[in-house]
Amino acid sequence: MFALLLLQLLHAGFGSPVTSQRSFGIDYAHNCFLKDGKPFRYISGSFHYSRVPRYYWKDRLLKMKMAGLDAIQTYVPWNFHEVEPGVYNFAGDRDLESFLRLADEIGLLVILRAGPYICAEWDMGGLPAWLLEKETIALRSSDADYLAAVERWMGVLLPKMKVHLYQNGGPIIMVQVENEYGSYFACDFDYLRYLQSLFHQHLGDEVVLFTTDGASKFLLRCGTLQGLYSTVDFGPGANVTASFLNQRHAEPNGPLVNSEFYTGWLDHWGHRHSVISSSLVAKTLSEILAHGGNVNMYMFIGGTNFGYWNGANMPYAAQPTSYDYDAPLSEAGDLTKKYFAIREVIAMYKTIPQGPIPPSTPKFAYGEVPLKKVGTVRDLLNDLSPSGPIKSTYPLTFVQVKQYVGYVLYRTKLPRNCTEEPLYSTLNGIHDRAYVVVDGIPQGVLERSRIVALNITGSAGAHLDLLVENMGRVNFGRYNNDFKGLVSNLTLGNETLADWEIYPLDIDTAVSQGLKNKRSGGNGSSNEEPSFYTGSFSIPSGIPDLPQDTYIAFPGWTKGQIWINGFNLGRYWPTRGPQLTLFVPSNILVSSFLNNVTVLELEKSPCGAQKCFVEFVDKPVLNATLHYESSTEKLFTKDLWPNHR
Ligand SMILES: *[C@@H]1O[C@H](CO)[C@@H](O)[C@H](O)[C@H]1NC(C)=O
Ligand SMILES: *[C@@H]1O[C@H](CO)[C@@H](O)[C@H](O)[C@H]1NC(C)=O
Ligand SMILES: *[C@@H]1O[C@H](CO)[C@@H](O)[C@H](O)[C@H]1NC(C)=O
Ligand SMILES: *[C@@H]1O[C@H](CO)[C@@H](O)[C@H](O)[C@H]1NC(C)=O
Ligand SMILES: *[C@@H]1O[C@H](CO)[C@@H](O)[C@H](O)[C@H]1NC(C)=O
Ligand SMILES: *[C@@H]1O[C@H](CO)[C@@H](O)[C@H](O)[C@H]1NC(C)=O
Ligand SMILES: *[C@@H]1O[C@H](CO)[C@@H](O)[C@H](O)[C@H]1NC(C)=O
Ligand SMILES: *[C@@H]1O[C@H](CO)[C@@H](O)[C@H](O)[C@H]1NC(C)=O
Repeated sequence: MFALLLLQLLHAGFGSPVTSQRSFGIDYAHNCFLKDGKPFRYISGSFHYSRVPRYYWKDRLLKMKMAGLDAIQTYVPWNFHEVEPGVYNFAGDRDLESFLRLADEIGLLVILRAGPYICAEWDMGGLPAWLLEKETIALRSSDADYLAAVERWMGVLLPKMKVHLYQNGGPIIMVQVENEYGSYFACDFDYLRYLQSLFHQHLGDEVVLFTTDGASKFLLRCGTLQGLYSTVDFGPGANVTASFLNQRHAEPNGPLVNSEFYTGWLDHWGHRHSVISSSLVAKTLSEILAHGGNVNMYMFIGGTNFGYWNGANMPYAAQPTSYDYDAPLSEAGDLTKKYFAIREVIAMYKTIPQGPIPPSTPKFAYGEVPLKKVGTVRDLLNDLSPSGPIKSTYPLTFVQVKQYVGYVLYRTKLPRNCTEEPLYSTLNGIHDRAYVVVDGIPQGVLERSRIVALNITGSAGAHLDLLVENMGRVNFGRYNNDFKGLVSNLTLGNETLADWEIYPLDIDTAVSQGLKNKRSGGNGSSNEEPSFYTGSFSIPSGIPDLPQDTYIAFPGWTKGQIWINGFNLGRYWPTRGPQLTLFVPSNILVSSFLNNVTVLELEKSPCGAQKCFVEFVDKPVLNATLHYESSTEKLFTKDLWPNHR
């Protein structure tokens, strides 16, 4: 049915053939864009291909087309593609060019936000962590090493993008340079000029380059540059007239553009789930369109921070796995009340496509899946860390051991017998959470900015293990140089600990190869030591259209990471919330074999005397904050809203 719809759209003349007249530009005299020489206004929605499995790209794009959108806007996360210096990945879910071709086939234009920095609640704002190998690097500035890395990356990305520019027959009408640079402290115009010339060098002189900043004179000051078209962002409830007047301050003539009109808002672990009412979104959207403004709705579909891709804000608070964003299409691509409210507003200003809207996908509750312990991280260490430990007198960071995401095990020996002796990091150097074990006896947790000391008991010579979790790098503000691991010395009592063995852990490879405990099975008796658990389930037969999408819930579990058939779904943390269930897209499930579930529980599992399980359910729960922190929440709201993304 989707294929049929696509054909109808194509026959209706979308995705028109290449002609020599294709052009896109700005008409300053008439305050509008010009497409093929005619006045043009766009209504767009953000869709980050990195947050939706490729399998579902077409479904989401069709739903956006059917809402009446002219365009989609996407970020390009540099760290998603240049995984190690000079090593590029544009395959599978990272196949940006296929994404662009699909948008084009469906008749959607593309506004490309090419970076290098993107914010986006994405790990380190899209900057690769390996940039931090130069510890003093000044990110987002004219720092020579930073620029050399940017030049190499853009030399790979932009030539690929050139053929997809509108004037070259593709869907890309505009390319954003940097992101909300006016909110960054560096205010380095040489850097913006450098990017401007680099982008033109690869994309030609004709391309429309633009910037986006918060709609205030102050934020526009350092974010704008002659020759880069200045646009603004603001959310529902803002004074539209006043916001666009601020754009006029930077750009006296030309089209009015809100590049990020917030349909919802982001979440943090331990904070209330963000919700923005459909009626307020519809009302302000209508005002923007009535002003003749161009608009991009951020997000139209938020999607998921799979794996380790979530970012964090300061004071340190990480974003959860779901990036639902309370957007008009849910994390799972479902049509919401907000979708229809927005579609109705758009229909007041332009003709929207007729015909069936692809329906929400059905969800299936596969039920409980019993899990069994495979072993502790200690038991499995040889498989998890095939390279073995790196020895160092003092701790090294993740980047120093060339591991950028996930977990690293730091091990030393207790220098003496200890009874209730405080272990602490004077410089708040636990980035971001450490699960502490002495010879198999769990001692507790240390957490950045929250839990700075922990009492240790054990005898001289015992292994002191800290499994340190990178919970996501800061994506906004001056704190992007976010080193992970033990970033300062640890003190036990009055003594600085030394002689570390540091185990980089390649958990994802070990999980996809199937974890086996070669030591006496299920040894670690404690259910409070970081451990792996596995189970399997089959898709019921005799029910049509399975496998379907589902959500996974964690009854009695505390905090950890989960894989299904080797696909890293992300982090769960039901004891903190607000997210209780994780989205499981159907494309990672198989109906011909057993599906494997692997859980790394970091704190405390429900397994023990009673049986323990995870449960597949057919409804998400994203709003059950259990551990609500009002003081920092106010801070985030004040600091980040509405001039941030
Ligand atoms: C919105 O801003 C405009 C321009 O600054 C101002 O004239 C108007 O009174 C404002 N409207 C409201 C409701 O504050
Ligand atoms: C340390 O504790 C062990 C028992 O756990 C004991 O045998 C040993 O004598 C103690 N050493 C010191 C120096 O107290
Ligand atoms: C550690 O133990 C000491 C002595 O028992 C106690 O006073 C202190 O509060 C404990 N500290 C922590 C962080 O639990
Ligand atoms: C740890 O302490 C040693 C000795 O004081 C010092 O040389 C080293 O720089 C410290 N390391 C960190 C990461 O603070
Ligand atoms: C550490 O404290 C112990 C007793 O609490 C003391 O005997 C020892 O001299 C101290 N060591 C240092 C290096 O201060
Ligand atoms: C667990 O394994 C350790 C070796 O890692 C061994 O010393 C211990 O006896 C085992 N315990 C049980 C209960 O099997
Ligand atoms: C699940 O694991 C089993 C045993 O390792 C393996 O045979 C099977 O192929 C796996 N299934 C999938 C879908 O990966
Ligand atoms: C959570 O969301 C559901 C579904 O939208 C809603 O019914 C429920 O009232 C919400 N709960 C809280 C605590 O906000």
